[in-house]
Amino acid sequence: MSTPILRRLDALRALTAQWRKGGETVAVVPTMGALHEGHLSLVRAAKSGADRVIVTIFVNPKQFNSAEDLANYPRTEEQDARKLAPFAVDAVYAPTPDQIYPEGFATNVSVSGVSEGLCGAHRPGHFDGVATVVTKLFLQTSADRAYFGEKDFQQLQVVKRLARDLDIAVEVVGCPTVREADGLALSSRNVRLSPEARAKAPALHAAMTRAAERLGSGADPETALAEARAAILEGGYAEVEYLELRAEDGLAPLAAPDRPARLLAAAWLDGIRLIDNIQIQPA
Ligand code: PAF
Repeated sequence: MSTPILRRLDALRALTAQWRKGGETVAVVPTMGALHEGHLSLVRAAKSGADRVIVTIFVNPKQFNSAEDLANYPRTEEQDARKLAPFAVDAVYAPTPDQIYPEGFATNVSVSGVSEGLCGAHRPGHFDGVATVVTKLFLQTSADRAYFGEKDFQQLQVVKRLARDLDIAVEVVGCPTVREADGLALSSRNVRLSPEARAKAPALHAAMTRAAERLGSGADPETALAEARAAILEGGYAEVEYLELRAEDGLAPLAAPDRPARLLAAAWLDGIRLIDNIQIQPA
């Protein structure tokens, strides 16, 4: 049996108030739907981290840069409900837009520092949209824990920062990226790849893995990154939007992986923008 879908904040609050009265802890998994195994891994982690689990599904217009991208974003609520059924989550909250952005909504949550550069440089306003909706979802669900995938590594840092800065009593938990057998990071956007593009898509992760190995074993960073860029393009991608080495904590740009580091990339394939990131293991 699938979990009933709550559309209204008052219904959600009535439910969480009951749980709280009983002394139960609450976890939230914020999503925009089009659920895949990556999201389900977050649900699994949430189930083992709290007494009650809420999955939110809301395609947040404020975080899209183009009307076309928003219109094309997959909306698969019935399938999502079916995928969630085996997990018996305690609530699916798929609010109507007015429950998130009531008429006259005039507040913007903007996180500086970690939101700058990388995706922030190429998607103006994106992280303000994410930070604003995530803040609302934290406050609406009053969750003790919230689960996010490391695939969106910069987003994870933005969310951690806002929770700390705004004293929101939620523990933000990052979970490892889930990949296809050929290395492609799971993403709701993957379903939009043509079969030809899907066959080329793993070139991004393959090039990043090779670069990460080389950087970890002391190769010249400029050369390793230039070779990775070339490999991504040779693999069939049309453009590498960015491929950068950053500090894992705080995302400061790094000339070399002289502290815990990540390699982060965004690249375009078949008109679809794919992102990925990988940890650098120093030798
Ligand atoms: O990662 C996502 O799916 C979205 O950015 C999130 C965190 C649900 C906010 O809309």
